[in-house]
Amino acid sequence: MRNFIIAGNWKLNKNNSEAKQLANQIKIRTTDIKNTEILVCPPFTALSVVNDIVSGSRVSLGAQNVFWEGQGAFTAEISADMIKSTGASFVIIGHSERRLYFGESDETVNKRLMAALQAGLKPIICVGETLEQREAGQAFDVIATQISGAFKNLSVVDMQDVIVAYEPVWAIGTGKTATPQQAEDIHTFIRGKIAEQFGADVAKALRIQYGGSVKEQNAKELLSQPDIDGALVGGACLKAETFVPIIQIAESLFQTH
Ligand code: PGA
Repeated sequence: MRNFIIAGNWKLNKNNSEAKQLANQIKIRTTDIKNTEILVCPPFTALSVVNDIVSGSRVSLGAQNVFWEGQGAFTAEISADMIKSTGASFVIIGHSERRLYFGESDETVNKRLMAALQAGLKPIICVGETLEQREAGQAFDVIATQISGAFKNLSVVDMQDVIVAYEPVWAIGTGKTATPQQAEDIHTFIRGKIAEQFGADVAKALRIQYGGSVKEQNAKELLSQPDIDGALVGGACLKAETFVPIIQIAESLFQTH
């Protein structure tokens, strides 16, 4: 049985005092959540202060990126060990904004993923096609390439801690959401690719989140799909009033997922 994981990707938002406030509100409003995993991913600068607030609660902490080298002359980069030392246990890797604006490739995703696993961080690997690619009928091919590139040289054991997030680029921050069926089709496809590479047991246990304009109004339909195991939330995660309802919807669907 796969329990839901609802993650908030804070992106480039929240200074430390705002971050503390938001983390505290999320913590206070989720004390009755028992079966849904809750994750917040603030900017690097706020990891420690948010950890002070959420540690010991049901809210887990993650970073939004990680560099593959452990140490050295790499000005401004952040290693997996540094992230781990803040109290974080997750890291988002290969978000489409990293791919689009910062030259992220399947190869660098793979390197970051290896470094994260080695440090004991649980990686959330983001994949997704652009509108152009979808309209050209290439969505499935693009996802297949991203999946095989990201998981190159990984073992069955490595895959235990991995989460995948399917985020169609055209649905991120646009207010457009993939229909539940469009999302489910890609999620099923991803699970199939994982089964080919790592076997049926790994595929069955793998949690695949959907991301792209998830909000209270569309969460139920999306999370009701059999292969959608959670959400990676951007815009709606920046306020407890809009983030917590998504967690509550996941919690209400736990028995039937
Ligand atoms: P959005 O962002 O919910 O604002 O579309 C999702 C994401 O980029 O992870």
